[in-house]
Amino acid sequence: MSLKRTILPTILPLVLLLFRGVVTAPFETFEDNLSGHLGCQKCHDIDKDKINVHLIPHSHDDVGWLKTVDQYYFGMNTGIQHAGVQYIITSVVEALLENTDRRFIQVETAFFWKWWKAQSEEMQQNFKYLVDNGQIEMTNGAWAMNDEACANYQSIIDQFTWGLRIINDTVGTCGAPRTGWQIDPFGHSREQASLFAQLGFDSIFFARLDHDDKTKRQEEGRLNYAWQGSANLDDSIIFGGIFPTSSYSPPSGYCWDYECSDDPVNDDPESPDYNVKSVVEDFTKLAKQYAKYYPTNNVLMAMGGDFQYEAAEMNFVNMDKFIKAFEDHDEVKLLYSTPSCYVKAVHESNPKLHLKTDDFFPYSNNNNSFWTGYFTSRPNSKRFERTGHNILQATKQLVAIDSIRSTDYEKNVDNLRYLREAMGIMQHHDAITGTERQHVASDYVRLLTRAVEYAEKPIGDIVGELLQGNKTEESDLKLQLSSCLLSNISICNVSQKSDAFVVVGYNPLSWPVTQYIRLPISNANFSIQGPDGDEEYDIVTAISDFAYVELPNQVPSKTELVFAAKIPPMGLKMYFINKTSKSLEESPQGEVMDGDDNFSFGNNETCFQIDNKTNLLKSVTMNGITLNITQNFYYYYSETGESDKTNISSGAYLFRPTNTTPEALDGRVTNAGSKRGKVVDEFHQKWTDGRMNISQIIRVYKDESYIEFDWLVGGINITVDNMGKEVISKFSVTDDFNNNNTFYTDSNGREIIKRTLNYRPDYTYDPKIEPVASNYYPVTTKILIKDEQKDIEVAVLTDRSEGGSSLAKGEIELMVHRRIIHDDKKGVGESLNETEFETGVYVRGSHYLVIGSATKSNPDGRTTAAQERILAQKKLNQPWIGIGTLTGASLTNADEESELLLSYSALRQALPENVNILTFEPWKNGTFLLRFEHILEQNEDPKLSDTANINIDDLFDAFIIEEITETTLAANRLLSDYKSESRYNWNFTGK
Ligand SMILES: *[C@@H]1O[C@H](CO)[C@@H](O)[C@H](O)[C@H]1NC(C)=O
Ligand SMILES: *[C@@H]1O[C@H](CO)[C@@H](O)[C@H](O)[C@H]1NC(C)=O
Ligand SMILES: [Zn+2]
Repeated sequence: MSLKRTILPTILPLVLLLFRGVVTAPFETFEDNLSGHLGCQKCHDIDKDKINVHLIPHSHDDVGWLKTVDQYYFGMNTGIQHAGVQYIITSVVEALLENTDRRFIQVETAFFWKWWKAQSEEMQQNFKYLVDNGQIEMTNGAWAMNDEACANYQSIIDQFTWGLRIINDTVGTCGAPRTGWQIDPFGHSREQASLFAQLGFDSIFFARLDHDDKTKRQEEGRLNYAWQGSANLDDSIIFGGIFPTSSYSPPSGYCWDYECSDDPVNDDPESPDYNVKSVVEDFTKLAKQYAKYYPTNNVLMAMGGDFQYEAAEMNFVNMDKFIKAFEDHDEVKLLYSTPSCYVKAVHESNPKLHLKTDDFFPYSNNNNSFWTGYFTSRPNSKRFERTGHNILQATKQLVAIDSIRSTDYEKNVDNLRYLREAMGIMQHHDAITGTERQHVASDYVRLLTRAVEYAEKPIGDIVGELLQGNKTEESDLKLQLSSCLLSNISICNVSQKSDAFVVVGYNPLSWPVTQYIRLPISNANFSIQGPDGDEEYDIVTAISDFAYVELPNQVPSKTELVFAAKIPPMGLKMYFINKTSKSLEESPQGEVMDGDDNFSFGNNETCFQIDNKTNLLKSVTMNGITLNITQNFYYYYSETGESDKTNISSGAYLFRPTNTTPEALDGRVTNAGSKRGKVVDEFHQKWTDGRMNISQIIRVYKDESYIEFDWLVGGINITVDNMGKEVISKFSVTDDFNNNNTFYTDSNGREIIKRTLNYRPDYTYDPKIEPVASNYYPVTTKILIKDEQKDIEVAVLTDRSEGGSSLAKGEIELMVHRRIIHDDKKGVGESLNETEFETGVYVRGSHYLVIGSATKSNPDGRTTAAQERILAQKKLNQPWIGIGTLTGASLTNADEESELLLSYSALRQALPENVNILTFEPWKNGTFLLRFEHILEQNEDPKLSDTANINIDDLFDAFIIEEITETTLAANRLLSDYKSESRYNWNFTGK
């Protein structure tokens, strides 16, 4: 078999299923070929001469918010909120079996799966029957309804893939969702629309968009629109539907859930409370008003709300009567509907839709309430989510490689399950966003920690087997590895306490990478031996003494060892680390830099200078450019208002600073030591301010062309002035730099979107009311500014999602931490006040600064955009670092240890720099999922944006691919089937 695959220059992930055996079962044929839609879809007729109100019964079941996932599922903790998803699904099934006209959509697969597993076979059959019968429409279908600001596209793809797979495994092909139902997330990303198109979906429905945008759309009849999700891909246009009310619930008077107190429909004319006549009169007015908001006579009406339908018969019996009441009405028809039936009905009227090409950020529900705080809320949880993603990718690959080698295709696959699911949960719009209660946040940490431990369990053995290479006879080698999750507070028991240990790095990317491995150690000298001989290292001071940390048997180290591990693509390297002397030969502090005019760190190609008067960054040199630029920390005071309209406070969701210019920290920044080492140069800074503690290391590695800002911010004091504080890191170009009120941010880590200060492309708003918060955008991976005249681009990459902006010429600011004492009245009912070790929680993170040409290639032949793309991948999918012990082999004479390979790669050669294997994981029945992506947009780089060719036959060293089948993005539908029923085409007018 010879197969050549062309990877398009459009960051289009191609999805391939590798089959060991032939899978022949085709998808069901679709009866409705014209609309290209669900074979199982059964839509009620509309009346083209009337206003058709589509009643869409649904329950919005948050995968954790005020209660934990389990508490919501089982219905525990009713004191906080009455909500039990297990009752909801069962109750809906019973109500739908009563009357075949009724419809319902099932959305969150995390809950559906919990429910399915607990049911009798009969109940499962009932559910499947309802799906096959078009009464239940599986909608959205991802593990959770993901947030769209903070989630990275790779995690969104993963959680859709897992959710849609569970749907296919349980209810089969009729369950394949076709519509996005992102009703609650607080603003909407363009990438989400693009991903939906690639999943084969053709619509998205939601409730939350800026109130000025909403009003304008209502006035112009544009609550339906066409949305182009990608500036690079063909065929990325989907249909958008927005609800006529301000939420995803019915208008007041029409909520018949047990949670609501609206009157039921009383259809007994003899009854003194008979109300059918008034219901018809009142709703006719409303329907006529709503009809004006839409381009066709199809009106959306979401019939449901948070955790509704626990007593589903109440909802349905009243909706039955509601629909019946309009049976002979001249102007209005009501019908049970689903999102896909709504899209079908609208499509049949062939409207001319308005084309949207940007996104729906930021979201504000009134002039003072910009939901831009959650871009940063709970920054530790946002970072842990990225760590979880990183470990999931590495462990999926290792388990896949090992199961192929051992031809036991189920081997260790179960160990991945918790992490797949925990990562799905983390994407939820009250998880990664930080908008959940504290006990729920703690439960997410518990879930993710347990999942990581479980996924890592077999990795030591797998690595041991891979490194023993072709050895056949049983060996007594035993490798025990785990990642030191606390190394960011300089704790790792193995490296701190052992005289001899091993470090293994597994690189999940398809190119070789250099990982700077950093290990907390006791004061000592070491030898590091790997496959390339002795490795050089530096001993450096930790960023802090972490005196606030109190953990049993774990003491943070003041010293760290750093060395460069060059790890092959999809490959491993092992190092032996041995203590050689008990005390240090040189001080980790390095030279004292006071009074040094030079104050420069790095080499001629990449370096930075420190101003020796202020101890702040002065200039940066890289890519042949030297730019005067400084960086400092500031904070905003959080507004404390108590009302929920104009005088609202900052909170978990909202960012509402009291002032338009942030406060400077007190006192002079101290030089807390520096190091010019063999692998890294570092400058340590410390801020002294009564309101918080900040330390930072600015560093440059010898072989890398970026500057790292490694910061630790915490102990925010809220009692000293009784005010919440929101801390930013601000980069300011001190040379003249004209970025034209323009900056750029990424959309979920993929395409870049242009932002203009105080301006929205789609509507007008008054930026004077909230000049800071209204200009904040989600920064999932990077933010940048350009001076096109000077041909300079300045970009900052992040290690997690943060809110960011460019509020003045030459500036980039990123919010890194928030501690607030008021609730912003958006439902969570707690203030965002995270504490740990009896102080305001500490957050550690990194920013990576890249400077280069804005328009041309840099001296290394790559554009700055291409460099940023590659760097972002390297930071998101870092090598998994396992630290542990090896028994049965000599630790001191690694190079003589003939039975061990110290290096391994599953690939025959690295992929071209613009292509990455986004996914490689065990799937089902001996098949594996392999997903490639082109990592650049069109026009980002004259060479690297171009088409890349790879030969899959020649790719893997570890195994031979027997057969390949292409699927849609989430692997739940074969591409051959999918193409035969194309997505809807829409008429639209450009802007
Ligand atoms: C989906 O499930 C059906 C069985 O209901 C199976 O035949 C089909 O192969 C599955 N599709 C995928 C892509 O796994
Ligand atoms: C494994 O086998 C290959 C070729 O058969 C050989 O080049 C390599 O040295 C062997 N590795 C070990 C560790 O024995
Ligand atoms: Zn929600």
